[in-house]
Amino acid sequence: MAWTLTTQLWLLLVWGAEVWAAGPRTELLNICMNAKHHKEKPSPEDKLHEQCSPWKKNACCSVNTSQEAHKDVSYLYRFNWDHCGPMKPACKRHFIQDTCLYECSPNLGPWIQEVNQSWRKERILDVPLCKEDCESWWEDCRTSYTCKANWHKGWNWTSGSNKCPVKAACHRFDFYFPTPAALCNEIWSHSYKVSNYSRGSGRCIQMWFDPAQGNPNEEVARFYAEAMNGAGLYGAWPLLLGLALMLLLLLS
Ligand SMILES: *[C@@H]1O[C@H](CO)[C@@H](O)[C@H](O)[C@H]1NC(C)=O
Ligand SMILES: *[C@@H]1O[C@H](CO)[C@@H](O)[C@H](O)[C@H]1NC(C)=O
Ligand SMILES: *[C@@H]1O[C@H](CO)[C@@H](O)[C@H](O)[C@H]1NC(C)=O
Ligand SMILES: *[C@@H]1O[C@H](CO)[C@@H](O)[C@H](O)[C@H]1NC(C)=O
Repeated sequence: MAWTLTTQLWLLLVWGAEVWAAGPRTELLNICMNAKHHKEKPSPEDKLHEQCSPWKKNACCSVNTSQEAHKDVSYLYRFNWDHCGPMKPACKRHFIQDTCLYECSPNLGPWIQEVNQSWRKERILDVPLCKEDCESWWEDCRTSYTCKANWHKGWNWTSGSNKCPVKAACHRFDFYFPTPAALCNEIWSHSYKVSNYSRGSGRCIQMWFDPAQGNPNEEVARFYAEAMNGAGLYGAWPLLLGLALMLLLLLS
């Protein structure tokens, strides 16, 4: 009797060690969110369009989605960037890149949250965007015009695409978004939380990257998945060890 219990405890210890050695929570890595246009699983897409092409080795977006991401009022969301007159091209390219990251990246797993929205089951929350990517987005957009600080909510959609609601006046971007953080954090209801880490640090998500050096966001997702593991099973491991040792002592 005691022998089998001891064996069971050893098995428990071995299992615990395996959990510990497993490292990051693999279910958060290399996945696609369950949203409007994402593929079920990431896979190679040789023909991804222009600004989405950095993700072609492994992507959550289809070729069609990558093409639509470059259009005005595309079939993706019928979103009109030019709701306060034409958005400047230097600004628009950041919104295209933002769309490519959102639709194509398989490295946003640590920040996926369930939501109760008609058009998607999951969203991203507080993705740590590299500070330079946020700063250049803000810098290139500050002289374009908009009428709102949260672009997820409050539009007039009766025409089929978003129009400014009657009470929202068009002003320069820097009126609605006084700082880079105001832009990156508020525009999509905290999908991003601008990081104080820099591009290349391995601790923040890059919207822009050169695929010749691989996708830098893989390492970033691994790092944060591991950190989150620390709060879960990984953190419970010392407790488990303590309990097992106590039982072993009691039984011996
Ligand atoms: C992408 O697919 C949608 C829906 O099937 C279609 O309406 C749209 O024209 C396609 N876009 C491109 C660029 O092929
Ligand atoms: C989600 O929506 C369903 C039905 O509309 C509702 O029953 C449920 O409580 C909602 N869940 C949350 C977390 O709001
Ligand atoms: C929405 O826009 C339509 C015209 O496209 C207008 O008739 C209507 O009053 C607007 N509604 C609101 C709430 O702004
Ligand atoms: C980011 O900010 C935190 C807290 O404000 C600080 O501890 C950390 O060292 C900063 N990291 C970098 C790379 O500046």
